Amino acid sequence: MTNDFNTLVAATQATLTRIASDFSPAVFASSLATEDMVLADMILRAKLPITIFSLETGRLHKETLGMLDRIKETYDYEVKLFKPEQSAVDAYVQQNGLNAFYDSVDMRKECCRIRKVEPLKRALAGNKAWVTGQRRAQSTTRAELAVQEDDAAHGMTKFNPLADWSEEDVWHYIRTNHVPYNPLHDRGYPSIGCEPCTRAIQPGEDVRAGRWWWENPESKECGLHVVDGKLVRIKSVAQ
Ligand code: ADX
Ligand code: SF4
Repeated sequence: MTNDFNTLVAATQATLTRIASDFSPAVFASSLATEDMVLADMILRAKLPITIFSLETGRLHKETLGMLDRIKETYDYEVKLFKPEQSAVDAYVQQNGLNAFYDSVDMRKECCRIRKVEPLKRALAGNKAWVTGQRRAQSTTRAELAVQEDDAAHGMTKFNPLADWSEEDVWHYIRTNHVPYNPLHDRGYPSIGCEPCTRAIQPGEDVRAGRWWWENPESKECGLHVVDGKLVRIKSVAQ
């Protein structure tokens, strides 16, 4: 765990407060995984005016969807859902089959584009900033992640308030603050995406080894944080 955990928490709370005051309207993209529950807890306890949304891809685990009710019970808050265009989903399934994402990286990216990337664009439209739960330690593709970035692709500022957090920090926050979490995390799923594209990992495996496990590590991003095949790591902004 990070030496000075309380300082880390205070810095993250300060970042969220600054987003709410200086970057309104702002939204938070929650996958309902542990990192995102830490941020949701901070936002909802402090009653910050940051709208929380999830991309409901239509392929999430029932346990993940169950988190929507847990959030409602715990914080009396309804997460806003963005769903894919039904006509695009139907056309993909009709042409390629329901699980064509196993066939090639292109087929997988097209499914992610329809079910995540296009709905994300709708969710972000009209906002000044968006917040994610990404951490540097999650993968090689995130090693240079900054807390604040200029997201030119979406024409807004992007915040990754947990960029400096370790996995232990995340769990320490969850446990000490009794934050509800997805029960799949206790069954070998440290990183959770859509059901058909996520498997449990074995002890010692990389935390993202269960995501799109049939692909190479370099291609394992769904497009939420990547535009035109490139990571959107354009410019970090000094704070
Ligand atoms: S992914 O790009 O590989 O799918 P990951 O699961 O690590 O992403 O999540 C990283 C961040 O992307 C999350 O903290 C969250 O901000 C955002 N995110 C991922 N999936 C979703 C989702 N279904 N709905 C909303 N935000 C999401
Ligand atoms: Fe489709 Fe899998 Fe991407 Fe979900 S993670 S949108 S099921 S390819």
